Amino acid sequence: MSDKATLEVNGNKHEFPIVVGTENEVAIDVKTLRGVTGGVITIDAGYKNTGSCESAITFLDGEKGILRYRGYSIEELAEKADFLEVAYLLIFGELPTLGQLDKFHSDIKKHSVVDDDVKKILDAFPKSAHPMGVLSSLTSALTAFNPSSVNVDSEEDMYNSVVRILGKFPVLVAWTMRKKQGLPLYYGDSNLGYVENILKMMFKQPNEEQYIQNPILIDALDKLLILHADHEQNCSTSTVRIVGSSHAGLFASLSAGISALWGPLHGGANQAVLEMLEAIKEDGGDTKKYMAKAKDKTDPFRLMGFGHRVYKNFDPRARIIKKAADEVLGDLGVEDPILDIAKGLEQEALKDDYFVKRKLYPNVDFYSGIIYRAMGIPTDMFTVMFALGRLPGWIAQWREMRLRKEPIGRPRQLYIGETQRAFKTIEKR
Ligand code: SDX
Repeated sequence: MSDKATLEVNGNKHEFPIVVGTENEVAIDVKTLRGVTGGVITIDAGYKNTGSCESAITFLDGEKGILRYRGYSIEELAEKADFLEVAYLLIFGELPTLGQLDKFHSDIKKHSVVDDDVKKILDAFPKSAHPMGVLSSLTSALTAFNPSSVNVDSEEDMYNSVVRILGKFPVLVAWTMRKKQGLPLYYGDSNLGYVENILKMMFKQPNEEQYIQNPILIDALDKLLILHADHEQNCSTSTVRIVGSSHAGLFASLSAGISALWGPLHGGANQAVLEMLEAIKEDGGDTKKYMAKAKDKTDPFRLMGFGHRVYKNFDPRARIIKKAADEVLGDLGVEDPILDIAKGLEQEALKDDYFVKRKLYPNVDFYSGIIYRAMGIPTDMFTVMFALGRLPGWIAQWREMRLRKEPIGRPRQLYIGETQRAFKTIEKR
């Protein structure tokens, strides 16, 4: 392949370098385009054909259904690693030694207390507040109590803000859920593992002497968090990177990412899937009606949990979660008709010409909510659980962007508004 691309504009030919990644992905570097063409830019709504950065964190191949974190396959990591190991791998680039993992966890535990005034902010929210809005606000509020986490130019300062948020975020997640449930806000137990500690903060009941850990829930949550941990330049990660590119600080960047994830086209889909499956159940399991709605261009309804910007094959995470859903519900002895409706819908869609032609397959959000529900997590908390899993990925991408000293993100536009016109003073009455 040539190492140059040629573009002809207004009869002039311009060459641009072709860059090739380690997985043989090819990009045309157009950073000189505007200068050499006297102002011509590219335009690509939704950035479907545009790369925002070079990154060494996550590789995915949408056609082959491949997902790897730092070169390790998602299948192996979900099977053999635990979430904190994967968080370390994503953020620092290598799997930790036992000593490194112990120090990482110990540093995180040192920061797993949240300033008491955060409870006052939490109390100010109405019970009806959506947990994603609460979590985004509390994450941004952490900056007020940890000002040293804003201007982080040194790797040491970055490390300190990273372990701070990894310590405090699970507390915010647990308290956000328990506040809505009217339950007391507990801290966890520093003798517990990272995921065990989260489960205890979320589920310990006031009348329980001690919270009894359920290995099925520990394994299920560990696996779900790993599967959600990173996904290259998706909408919320791109948001974290662009906010971070102004040097706004890690917590502010994460708060923006949480807001982007909230949308039903993105992380909010896992909640929307359960609401859709519930509606189908209420409708007597009439999946055909919802399939027809999804294909009706006059109907804004989409088959939630289906389709993906990158995967034009099965989302590898959906395969793993679907298998885990069977196992977890079986182990917990939970009979959930919703799972059968989901499987029926999947079977129908995979045979339907509309979906086949558009290569629409189940994505990570299609089955995850079924497990969260079996674990006793409320539906409006599903996207918060997605954020809990995505946290290390957002951190890794933010840190990579800062360490590579990426420029502030500032896209161009094509103006299509009014050309110059004279101001007319309105006739005074
Ligand atoms: C996540 O990017 C990531 O990596 C995200 C994520 C991550 O880990 O960070 O993987 C997590 O966000 C998963 C996606 C969760 N969202 C949903 O499940 C919502 C339902 N799916 C969609 O709305 C949609 O598929 C998107 C948003 C996921 C992708 O949309 P695109 O890439 O912009 O595709 P598109 O809207 O241009 O759709 C192409 C065609 C259109 O039809 P035509 O105009 O060609 O006739 O497919 C149709 C769409 O109408 N289509 C659907 C559909 N998804 C796409 N039709 C019905 N139901 C759907 N779900």
